[in-house]
Amino acid sequence: MIPQSFIQGLLNRVDIVDVIERHVPLRKAGTNYITCCPFHSEKTPSFTVSPTKQFYHCFGCGAHGSAVGFMMEYVGMDFVEAVNALASRVGMQVPVQKKDVRPGMSDFKGGRQDKENSSQDLFEVMNIVTRFYREQLKGSKRAIAYLKERGLTGETAARFAIGYAPTGWKNLAEIFPDYQSQKLLEVGVVSEGEKGKHYDRFRDRIIFPILNQKGRIVGFGGRVLEQNEPKYLNSPETQLFEKGSELYNLFAARRAIRDAEKVIVVEGYMDVVVLSQYGIAYVVATLGTATTAHHVRKLLRQTDNVVFCFDGDDAGRKAAWRALENSLAQFVDGKNISFLFLPEGEDPDSYVRKFGKGAFEKLINQALPLSIFLFQWLSEGINLQTSEGRAKLVQDAKPLLAQVVAPILALMLLKRLAELSGISQDELEELLQIKRISSSLPRGRISRPNPISPCRWLTQVLLHDPGYVSRLDRKLLSEHGENTEEMAALVALIEFIDTHPHVEENTAIPSAITYFYNSPHRALLEKAESATLSWDNAIDLEAEFNGALTRLQEIQRKQRMTELQNKSLSALTSDEKQELQRLAVLLG
Ligand code: UTP
Ligand code: MN
Repeated sequence: MIPQSFIQGLLNRVDIVDVIERHVPLRKAGTNYITCCPFHSEKTPSFTVSPTKQFYHCFGCGAHGSAVGFMMEYVGMDFVEAVNALASRVGMQVPVQKKDVRPGMSDFKGGRQDKENSSQDLFEVMNIVTRFYREQLKGSKRAIAYLKERGLTGETAARFAIGYAPTGWKNLAEIFPDYQSQKLLEVGVVSEGEKGKHYDRFRDRIIFPILNQKGRIVGFGGRVLEQNEPKYLNSPETQLFEKGSELYNLFAARRAIRDAEKVIVVEGYMDVVVLSQYGIAYVVATLGTATTAHHVRKLLRQTDNVVFCFDGDDAGRKAAWRALENSLAQFVDGKNISFLFLPEGEDPDSYVRKFGKGAFEKLINQALPLSIFLFQWLSEGINLQTSEGRAKLVQDAKPLLAQVVAPILALMLLKRLAELSGISQDELEELLQIKRISSSLPRGRISRPNPISPCRWLTQVLLHDPGYVSRLDRKLLSEHGENTEEMAALVALIEFIDTHPHVEENTAIPSAITYFYNSPHRALLEKAESATLSWDNAIDLEAEFNGALTRLQEIQRKQRMTELQNKSLSALTSDEKQELQRLAVLLG
């Protein structure tokens, strides 16, 4: 909808310090401004705003963004609203483009009506549909009987705005005379058949409206009343609804989460509804998807304690492991992430009905901390009495430990691994190439986790000064054998700079981060960007750039050397022999 070039211009005009200061008092500290983070509770300020780079970053909870991001996350606007608000403040006119080109946005069909179908209109459609389904519930004895049988009170059904989508194919035509309207397709309440025929997506199902963090209805979950397939049908991903980031009940639970100082993450709609009815209101559910890093980040902003609750069976343990993997990189010291496994055959809904609130809360308090579950899972099926077993444990732990950025957790995991493997902590650090990140390097030096991946290093240089892109040897990048997320993020950033050449005139590009708001590279780029916070004018960017390139080259040479060394001597051509010699000299 809004061209990226406009956003760039806007972010160049707006001063993020002004924007944030209207909502939160800021104090100058060196070149930056600091304050206690408005996104999580803390006593000493770790929320930093950089006037030169025009972004904010919290070292406590990882909150990070541009002025646009702040309006979205703090003020609660959506993207377009945020851009409009900032633009009107500096007197810029927001142009309207045909299609929304932000990555990650669902590429919905029928772009011809984009202009009329603002999010505002689509939200209104969702409200009307929700009202309709709730009315239908009142009129359906069968649906009411089903909910009663599951133990729900009328009050609970009302609190969750539960409804009923009746049988029949075109019930929504009753309330939308223009049933063919593109809007109904776009929000996913109507589907389009093979011959272009439109029909209601939800038929004869109990309807659970899904609210986003701002309390707006973005989707529905629909459950069959009898034993049909699929048991649950959810709204598709739409312009309003992104499953990997939404959590059922987060909006309503916010207060309870704050009061209880924790949140429980369960798997099902019914689990949330029933637990709430039993007085455990600090509960949310993922929406038929695995727990994503995005979910975890969102939850850690709300509270210091996240408890994942899963079934005790194999599927539950696997789901828990997925959640753990997606939590590692998001973990912040001082927070707790733990895992609760229910007895086999129970889910939170059945458990709390059988054993009551007190018993369930007891389980919560016995949940396994992340560090314990991690090693429990890794040690499963491994005989730690043998050196082979211990070696395997270290091998399996390596990629997981590498993801942890929280220094204290990293240290604790390392200690535990040392105990279990019988390898000393120093040796492990050497072996895993993990170095503790020192948080307070002397001023003037660049604080950089060591060893930093050269791709990440280059990313930082480019974020600081995109002009370096023209001096980048693309061949070096394409030959770099490593296929890491860091490489992918770097390539995406280079592509962004290539396709938005005007960014080269700026020194920093906060708008890049806005552009990557919905991209899988967001977390890495945010991290890289925040690492440049301590870079000021005194930094020798040239040296950083060359350093990164040298390191990249070195890695490539090492790879090539290993490749050659793995061939038997007789299989090497004389050129290859020469190359090997040259490499040996270069690598010293
Ligand atoms: P479960 O199969 O564990 O069901 O699915 P449940 O929550 O216990 O449901 P009840 O108690 O039988 O009503 C857990 C979650 O997985 C998603 C839904 O979000 C559901 O709440 N799911 C499940 C689907 O999206 N589709 C399905 O067909 C099944
Ligand atoms: Mn259930």
